[in-house]
Parts: sequence; structure tokens; C-alpha cells
Amino acid sequence: MEQPVQTEVWKPQTLEELIRILHQLFSGDKVNIDEVQTLMESYESKPEEWTKYAQFDQFRYTRNLVDKGNGKFNLMVLCWGEGHGSSIHDHTDSHCFMKILQGNLKETLFEWPGKKGSGEMVKKSERVLRENHCAYINDSIGLHRVENPSHTETAVSLHLYSPPFETCHAFDQRTGHKQKVKMTFYSQLGERTSSITLVSKENN
Ligand SMILES: [Fe+2]
Repeated sequence: MEQPVQTEVWKPQTLEELIRILHQLFSGDKVNIDEVQTLMESYESKPEEWTKYAQFDQFRYTRNLVDKGNGKFNLMVLCWGEGHGSSIHDHTDSHCFMKILQGNLKETLFEWPGKKGSGEMVKKSERVLRENHCAYINDSIGLHRVENPSHTETAVSLHLYSPPFETCHAFDQRTGHKQKVKMTFYSQLGERTSSITLVSKENN
């Protein structure tokens, strides 16, 4: 009989070790959400381990690819300048794990708009995620907006998406209308992505 995996004994000591364990957890067909969340939360953020991925832009938050997860997931570092935020967006039927590496992020949860897009979107809840906390969302939970509420401190977060996706929908808070957007990486494996391939919409 298969034994349940004990993530509480697998406290990763480094980001590299976290990535190694993530590869194991995603090697099969099923994802155990609690297990992945607990594992990501148990990694204690050490800036020297992720700083090469943490590339900031003056005007908007950036997405920086850390690991391609053997095709099963994308792991990335998101860098949020003071006051930077995302659109309200969905997650293309994927799992989304979001761990805070530095600073705080505010997450505002919204209900899906009605069929036609029915005016002002309904806010369900909001919370502030603090260092080392790991949040989880998928499309059945709702939509969210993520932002760095601080005007004096930057924030950095580690996101895992499984399966990986390249497009999602951004929603207009006032009307509920949605728009398909393509997402890009500001850097990949520590190397700045050629600016020719960059487009301006980055939304998860
Ligand atoms: Fe998101």
C-alpha cells in the first residue's frame, strides 16, 4: 500500500532543495494541494538564494522564471516595486501557489462576473500575506488582484503554477468585462529576456 508523503519532515533548507522536492511532488498525475502549500511555507526565505532572479522594473511588477518543473509546473519570482499591483485575473484552470519571500502583499478576492459582465465586480475578501506565508488559489475559488500595498518597501514572491500556462484573462473591476492576455518573463533562469519579445501585459 502506498504511504502518504510526510512533507512536515521535509523542511527544505535551501531554495534548491525546495525545487528538488517540488519535482518529486509533481512527478505523478495528481497534485496534493495541502502538501505543496505546507512545503512551500516551510522554506524559510533567504535572499541570497533568490536574489539573482529578483529583477525589478521601475514601472510595473516583473515575472522571473526560476524553474520549468519538468513541464509539470512553472516556478517564478515576482518582484513588486512600491505600489505595484496586478490586474484582477483568473488562472486558466491551473493551481496557483504564492509564497511571500520579502515584504507583504495584499490579495483581494473577487467573484466571477455574471455571463454578460454585469457591472462592478463583487469583492469577496481581502487579506495581507506576510513573509514566508504561502497562499493558494484556483478558478473555482475565484479571481484575485495582488498588490504591494507599501509605498516605501518592495516585495518579492515565489509563485508556482501547475500546469504551466501562458495566457489568462484580466477583468475590468468596473464592468466585469474580460480580456485575454499573454504573459511573459522579464528574465529566465537569471538572464534578462530579450526586450524584443516582451509585451506589456503581464497579469498573474
Ligand atoms: Fe494570480
